[in-house]
Amino acid sequence: MSGGTVVAGAIYADDGRLLLAQRAYPPELAGLWELPGGKVEPGETLDQALVRELCEELNVDVRVGVRLEASVRLKPGLDMVAVRARIVAGIPDTTEHLDLRWVDADMLNAMDLRGEIVPNDRAWIPELLADLRE
Ligand code: C5P
Repeated sequence: MSGGTVVAGAIYADDGRLLLAQRAYPPELAGLWELPGGKVEPGETLDQALVRELCEELNVDVRVGVRLEASVRLKPGLDMVAVRARIVAGIPDTTEHLDLRWVDADMLNAMDLRGEIVPNDRAWIPELLADLRE
């Protein structure tokens, strides 16, 4: 299947930290950290898809905010965007991911330098660092 959009959530806590999720699959990405999200289904808006995906993956309800500028071409016809979000109900838990962690700017920067971030998601790091340093 091709075509469409993957939407990921840059979830910020009230203390300003960002939520990262550790991928369990595929093997070449397992253990690396990403912004959680998934594919937009036909008929869904980006925001609706993000709310659904984060409910399914993390068991939280989020309020969706402003998009990040960068978008990533995963393959022809499949692009990935990220949207800022805040949790309005629930505590994130791991259903599909190996682990979750809340990071500040220094932690995110160090993880990026060590190559611990999913390659596609590295396009967002400058904007995420700017958010975290605000
Ligand atoms: O998470 P899921 O497997 O549904 O993601 C669909 C596609 O989007 C995969 O190819 C995955 O590598 C990519 N993806 C990504 N970064 C994310 C979320 C998904 O590269 N934060």
